[in-house]
Amino acid sequence: MPDSFQNLQVIILAAGQGTRMRSALPKVLHPVGAKPMLAHVIDAARGLNAKAIYVVYGHGGEAVKQGLSEQAVNWVLQDKQLGTGHAVKQAMPLLDDEQTVLILYGDVPLIRQETLRLLVKAASRHTLALLTAHLPDPGGYGRIVRNNTGAVMRIVEEKDANDSQRGIKEINTGMLAVNVSLLRQWLSRLNDNNAQGEYYLTDIIGMAAEDAIEIDTCQPSSLFEIEGVNNKTQLAEIERAYQRQQADVLMQQGVTFMDPDRFDLRGTLIAGQDVVIDVNVIIEGDVVLGDGVYIGPNNIIIDSTLDDNVTIKPNCMVALSRVAKGVEIGPFARVRPGTELGENVKIGNFVEIKKSNIASGSKVNHLSYIGDTIMGENVNVGAGTITCNYDGANKYQTLIGDNAFIGSDTQLVAPVAVGAGATIGAGSTISHDAPAGKLTLSRASQKTREGWKRPVKKQRSKSP
Ligand code: UD1
Ligand code: CA
Repeated sequence: MPDSFQNLQVIILAAGQGTRMRSALPKVLHPVGAKPMLAHVIDAARGLNAKAIYVVYGHGGEAVKQGLSEQAVNWVLQDKQLGTGHAVKQAMPLLDDEQTVLILYGDVPLIRQETLRLLVKAASRHTLALLTAHLPDPGGYGRIVRNNTGAVMRIVEEKDANDSQRGIKEINTGMLAVNVSLLRQWLSRLNDNNAQGEYYLTDIIGMAAEDAIEIDTCQPSSLFEIEGVNNKTQLAEIERAYQRQQADVLMQQGVTFMDPDRFDLRGTLIAGQDVVIDVNVIIEGDVVLGDGVYIGPNNIIIDSTLDDNVTIKPNCMVALSRVAKGVEIGPFARVRPGTELGENVKIGNFVEIKKSNIASGSKVNHLSYIGDTIMGENVNVGAGTITCNYDGANKYQTLIGDNAFIGSDTQLVAPVAVGAGATIGAGSTISHDAPAGKLTLSRASQKTREGWKRPVKKQRSKSP
């Protein structure tokens, strides 16, 4: 059982404008793995079982609240962005004293719960816990200033730093955990007397050192955890780091990737044993894959369940569907929402299935559209068969009984039913029910004209 921190309060700073994203969307709503960055941070905080989560918002305020409306958090408005210290101060009236507060950032989405646990455990009435990192290129970050015994003395922002301080490679990630009443005292003493004219949260570190509060530092296990997003390049880098992390978790669970760097999970994937995923696969929403499922290259699977030993050949899209054991789909097939495919069904190339129920053993192998259809077992649908399910105003259903054989290039004009064991001759337009067990066809009879001659091209006189 991981620790839960029932008295912990969390503040997430998310009021910054994010000008460098050059977007109408507030920065913290930009998605990583299809989930807003801020939602990643909120989920990490929630994973600690914190007592309350406060999100300080400002820029694009209403949009941020609406974008995350399903999140049970307390919203705190920071009207003007006067600095990180000022932002934290806005939430302080809502916080209970004598407990720990953890400060996080809405634009640093990949922070891991394990790292936060270390930080929170290190904080106490006498100890402030600070998350720092050692970077070969510390440019832009606040630097951790230590004395000759190694104790942290203060943080100096890059813009306020002298040359020797700029050489310090240990940086402030911004994340920290501290006792609420201590923080309250220090925040009341902040001023904006610095290079940026802002109320720096980082100034509380110097105050803690002066007040003889111990400053304990922890480090994240991976650097991507502390990376912030300020522009689209960083957003893309974070997306790749996140996707790789997800692929790693799936590989630990036994999933085989032909190339984990060419895989995107935008939601959740539950995978059985011996699942193989080829390159350029996108999984969206909630997807469940049974044992032995093979997903070929260039497939998109959305909110679907694929049972054991399903094979998806290259270049297919499967959405909001249920696919039973042993089914083969593709290449180049589209299985649309509301479809249920029974065991060992085969859906071949250039086939579109919509809101249809196809029972076990049936085959739709080539160039077909099957929509709003209930199809029995072991039906064979010939190439080019189309259910005409739409009259321009309404949709109608097609019923096809067990063991029916639909000849190639048939149009089934719904509403229409084909009985069990019926055979439909190729090229038929079926607009009345076809009885079970019989051959039905609608086809002009074939004629051959005796003495007919193929036209011959007229000889034109050559132009001078
Ligand atoms: C801050 C730290 C710096 C650290 C860096 C880590 C301070 C003074 N400096 O610098 O030491 O190395 O983060 O990335 O804290 N925000 C608000 N309201 C404000 C200002 C900021 O909510 O008035 C939020 C932003 O949305 C952002 C976070 O606070 O999520 C950090 O703000 P930012 O301006 O990016 O701080 P840095 O200058 O990067
Ligand atoms: Ca920043």
